[in-house]
Amino acid sequence: MARCSKCKTEAESLYWLDSMRSSLCQSCLIEHYEKKVKRTIIKYRMLSDVKNLGVAVSGGKDSMALVRSLLNIFPSLNFTVIHLNLGIPEYSDACQALVQKFCQENSIECITYDLKKVEGYSIGDFATSKLGRRICGICGVVKRYLINKVALENGLDAVATGHNLDDTVELLFNQYMSGALGDLVRNKPVLPSTHPKIVKKIKPLVEVTEQENLYYVLSTHTGYVDRECPLVKGSRMLKRKKLLLRIEEEIPNFKYLLFKSHVKRFLPILEKHFEAPAIRECERCGMPSMNSVCSYCKLVSKLRLSSPVSFSSH
Ligand code: AMP
Ligand code: FES
Ligand code: ZN
Repeated sequence: MARCSKCKTEAESLYWLDSMRSSLCQSCLIEHYEKKVKRTIIKYRMLSDVKNLGVAVSGGKDSMALVRSLLNIFPSLNFTVIHLNLGIPEYSDACQALVQKFCQENSIECITYDLKKVEGYSIGDFATSKLGRRICGICGVVKRYLINKVALENGLDAVATGHNLDDTVELLFNQYMSGALGDLVRNKPVLPSTHPKIVKKIKPLVEVTEQENLYYVLSTHTGYVDRECPLVKGSRMLKRKKLLLRIEEEIPNFKYLLFKSHVKRFLPILEKHFEAPAIRECERCGMPSMNSVCSYCKLVSKLRLSSPVSFSSH
């Protein structure tokens, strides 16, 4: 039988962690993971001044690892789960059922926002419209907008998301490659509130990998929706993530090193020289925007023009 690299106990099954290049038993894996997440939260002072925390949970392994680890690390922390039902056929309803069941079992308040019921259209409608080719980008705009709106309307003063190290580095890679300075400045562990209608965002899992999230949900017996969104297949984002995994095989810890040099070395310089764009309120919905109409309202009006969906009147 093999031994755990940390406690040296013999165990029937061990988790091989690429990030540590070692194998851990179930209890060492859980301890390692929770220590790491706690350290990130403390290092970036994520919960300072936060009275009412929201946790955005999709039902996938990352955000389920987030909600489970918050429960375990801070048993007396009160938080509210936000779940968006995006109306993706054969996917979204399963995600909603799983998140609601988890919240019920753990006595967590859960706000579910059903896009189709509230707005009259869904991500499924975007996918079948002429805009469908850019579906992941569209979905990202809708999620960011709605998570912020739901948090604001429910008096939450920060929202935690399950963005992990792989997500962050994939984005960094893309942003450095295209020189997207405005996006690079916003790619960081804590996004403070820069407008009364923008709720602070925190990323407690920004230093853990997708693999660590997967092993953590498995070892804590936390349920998750074990399939990718059906609309994401073949996306460039997935291709880039695979490429990064291959680089990591050749250069151990590459993802963390790139993240660390971005946050410690580049960000302070970028923040000094990059003036944040002025934020005003969208003339249609009143939410914060850099232009007269926000990206969300622009998308929705494009959908109106390109698809026969019937919209809610409110
Ligand atoms: P993604 O954009 O799918 O990589 O998701 C990043 C993070 O956004 C997740 O870890 C969640 O915290 C949050 N998120 C994504 N989808 C949803 C959803 N349907 N409901 C609530 N939060 C979500
Ligand atoms: Fe957004 Fe699949 S969850 S496109
Ligand atoms: Zn708007």
